[in-house]
Amino acid sequence: MTAHGTSAGDESSPPTPSGVPLLGNGPAFSRDPVGAMEEWASLGDLVRLEVPGQTTYLVTGAELIEQILVTDHESYTISPAQHETFEGIEDHAVTVTTGERWTRLRRVMRPALTHGAVQRYADRIVETTEDYVEEWDDGEHIDLYREMRLLTVNVLADALLDADVRGREAVVMDAADALVDRANLRRLGQLLPDWVPTPTDRRFERTVRELDAFVDDLIAERRNTGLGEDFCSVLLDAHDAGTLSIDEVRHNLVAMLLAGHDSPSIALTHALRLLDDHSDVRDALLAESGDVLGGDGSASGAYADLERTQNVVSETLRLYPPTLAVTRQATEPVTIAGYDLPAGAQFLLPQWPVHRDERYWDEPTVFDPSRWQEPESRPGYAYFPFSAGPRNCVGMHFARTELTLILATVLDRVELDVSMDGPLAFAPSLQLRPETDIEATVHRR
Ligand code: HEM
Repeated sequence: MTAHGTSAGDESSPPTPSGVPLLGNGPAFSRDPVGAMEEWASLGDLVRLEVPGQTTYLVTGAELIEQILVTDHESYTISPAQHETFEGIEDHAVTVTTGERWTRLRRVMRPALTHGAVQRYADRIVETTEDYVEEWDDGEHIDLYREMRLLTVNVLADALLDADVRGREAVVMDAADALVDRANLRRLGQLLPDWVPTPTDRRFERTVRELDAFVDDLIAERRNTGLGEDFCSVLLDAHDAGTLSIDEVRHNLVAMLLAGHDSPSIALTHALRLLDDHSDVRDALLAESGDVLGGDGSASGAYADLERTQNVVSETLRLYPPTLAVTRQATEPVTIAGYDLPAGAQFLLPQWPVHRDERYWDEPTVFDPSRWQEPESRPGYAYFPFSAGPRNCVGMHFARTELTLILATVLDRVELDVSMDGPLAFAPSLQLRPETDIEATVHRR
């Protein structure tokens, strides 16, 4: 052991932070996931972690991230943890499928989610946001994260599924909560064998049934109104053409509703909180949104002109990445950072410590959107909020577009006075959801 309570690693094994008997590094992570990841990352680009029942390798060097996600991606697949988390809810979705099936699913959805394709949703994103914000009264106190979740469920359903889900958002949000809770390391049920049903499992099963019924209703509504160009129609067209099964349609809609609202709402919450602390940046954004959105009433083409707002989105996703990590498993023996690791080795690629690494970023903890105006001089994979390589986030272009347009629209309509009930803390789960209450007082412009 070194002076830092670390097993130094040798030629055959990377360094390992010391942990608690039986529970290994789990408790440190469970207490403070981002603090633990930062500390472990300081031990090296590849660190071995022991959590109950398994060894996982933490990867925080930009070159190694590129190797796993891009250059050698064919030697890796998604992790067993990802299968376990989504089992029973997204079994037929892109999130858990592999091989030919995954390739087919991504091929069907790609045309509806390219940068160019998602720009056609701009007007609807702005309109949904305007309608939503219109309902906040002057002087009202809002739970900022909850409001951003409600808003992003509506934006996603309206733009991608052509569905009005106002008043029905709870079905989606409850299922997302059950999923995040199922993967929460603080949960005692994590230590029980799978066959012992816990209250979390029962809640998960109930919310899955409700979400399945909700998605079936959405499909029936889309059939009744006639198919169009939206994402739901693209999947249904593929079903009619015999390319997708109905389970694949249903589970991919579920995946979109869950993955598509949670991360964007976390990012928006942080962006609005950061802008409240940085009035100079907020004023510059306000001027930009006034110029861009204040014209002829059409938002199409607005994204490209909202350059400063885009930079704020990039910087927010750097400092507060909404997902905990990308996970992978080696499908064959691999060599990483000079260590030979067996087939089946599991990897955790966390964004937080890499996005704050001094080797890649000047003043890494400072919120400075202007850093995105400069040409990039850092390694490309020092920044990967949406992951990278062929299996990256399929909703990335939609996410960047909606975050930029929602932010510009909210700022244009209201000023938010944001407050937190303590220091920022995060749940130890697949999303870095804020555990601290974040509230805002609304001042209408
Ligand atoms: C700020 C917003 C978002 C962030 C930070 C984010 C991040 C991520 C990350 C890190 C992954 C894992 C990829 C991997 O395993 O390599 C992922 C996957 C995924 N995301 Fe997103 N995401 C966001 C928004 C969205 C949106 C809006 C949608 C839907 C419209 C979406 C749908 C998906 C889906 C379906 C996958 C699974 C892709 C696959 O395995 O092929 N995400 N996302």
